[in-house]
Amino acid sequence: MLYSDVSSLHSIVPQTKWSALQKEAMSTLTSQFTVSTTKLQQLTEAFVQHMNEGLTAQKGACKDLAMIPTYVTGRPDGHERGSYLALDLGGTNLRVCLITLKGDHALESHQRAFKVSDHLQEAHVSELMDFIAASIKDFITSEHISSKIVEHPSDSETLELGFTFSFPVTQTAIDAGVLLRWTKGFCCPGAVGNDVVQLLQEALNRNGVNVHVAALVNDTVGTLLAHSYTHPNTFVGAIFGTGTNGAYVETTRNIPSISSPAKEMLVNIEWGNFDKDKEFLPLTIHDNKLDKESINPGVHVFEKMISGMYLGEIARNVLLNLIGQRILFGGVSSEILNKHYALETKFMSDIEKDTSSTLTATATILEQELNIRNSTVADREIVKTVCQLVGNRAARLSAMATAAVIRQGLSNGIQEKHRHLLRVGATVVSAVDEKDVINVGIDGSVFEHYPYFEGRMTEGLEELLGPNARHIIKLGIARDGSGVGAALAALIATKNN
Ligand code: BGC
Repeated sequence: MLYSDVSSLHSIVPQTKWSALQKEAMSTLTSQFTVSTTKLQQLTEAFVQHMNEGLTAQKGACKDLAMIPTYVTGRPDGHERGSYLALDLGGTNLRVCLITLKGDHALESHQRAFKVSDHLQEAHVSELMDFIAASIKDFITSEHISSKIVEHPSDSETLELGFTFSFPVTQTAIDAGVLLRWTKGFCCPGAVGNDVVQLLQEALNRNGVNVHVAALVNDTVGTLLAHSYTHPNTFVGAIFGTGTNGAYVETTRNIPSISSPAKEMLVNIEWGNFDKDKEFLPLTIHDNKLDKESINPGVHVFEKMISGMYLGEIARNVLLNLIGQRILFGGVSSEILNKHYALETKFMSDIEKDTSSTLTATATILEQELNIRNSTVADREIVKTVCQLVGNRAARLSAMATAAVIRQGLSNGIQEKHRHLLRVGATVVSAVDEKDVINVGIDGSVFEHYPYFEGRMTEGLEELLGPNARHIIKLGIARDGSGVGAALAALIATKNN
């Protein structure tokens, strides 16, 4: 089915099979979960304002958008060469990679994933770091990697490593940064307030692993760098996956805390924490319930409306509420559906993809994954509509954040030339030259796999930035942005030394 077939879901068409009560409940949900263009515009304005407040905030001031300077002052152009180790920690998988940049926008990557157990996600940080050091050692030994085979700019025997660490870190240099808070279910004691590069380097030394941590980057920064390697001048790096966040290119004169001769620097926005005071976001009782019951209430409320870790849980809260009103499944839930996070976001993807007339795939998911038997067609249409409402809202809010960052680029001088074309009511162009597009590098399972996410985002971008947004803004998948970006950051760091 084409994206346009499902439309933007501004209004959900009531199903004929629904009872009057069901129709009424679904119409209420539709208005709660629909973010109008006007609301999106209001959010965009607040977002840009908060970006600027974060950039100019005094040290220690607690702004919702941390706007972290990354000390990465250049973007790759695809001619870089060399081999680097890359480490990617941001969720339940740890990846160790050897990335060989070949200099003509081409590269090779060898990698292994190691599972970060539930225990490690809560263990003392030294245990987590020892596990990482052991995994790196294991990878180096099994792949027979030594400084001899690694085409490397220095002659040292030590292997250089770039570390993508996808949590909020205040950086003090390209190879130093203090953890502000854990997100995405991690809560290892001993890490918040400490330098994660130092913690990792100590673990490597302790375990006799001859590797030097040359650079620390957030996954959004890694994604921006990686996308720049294939699409020079990429302006935004964004993640729509387990968590969500963005990084972009800012002029250094707009970052008062930095004195650098460089003209531009990448900034990690940490947009998951946008509007932490809940002033603007259209939160529903279902979002508030999720936030209250999470391990970090009051933090990253925006991320909790958008990212893969939470979408299923919002939908589950809505379904339980409907069951409680005896509007769904005859008022009967199952033990599984009653469990937190039992409805995974990937089930929502499959349900949204189900276009069969009686929603048979949805029936199978309900039965096999959630132990809900004997659902009626009307029930399944409700379930699918709930998924559509939650998924569509996530994509539109993602468009809003992306549009806000592009707006910042239109005013900070970096994307100024697009100013007249990117506004509502601009003269419509049919196509633009490749060199005139604004590249947005994106990684993450929600963007890659959630049906209609990209189309819904593009529609939101058009509402916010005018009809030319579709041609000028290129949302491109930067697969493995974290690994490749970490290697590029290590290269930038070692070249600058
Ligand atoms: C983290 C960010 C990260 C994002 C995407 C968020 O929870 O705070 O640092 O970039 O997830 O992985």
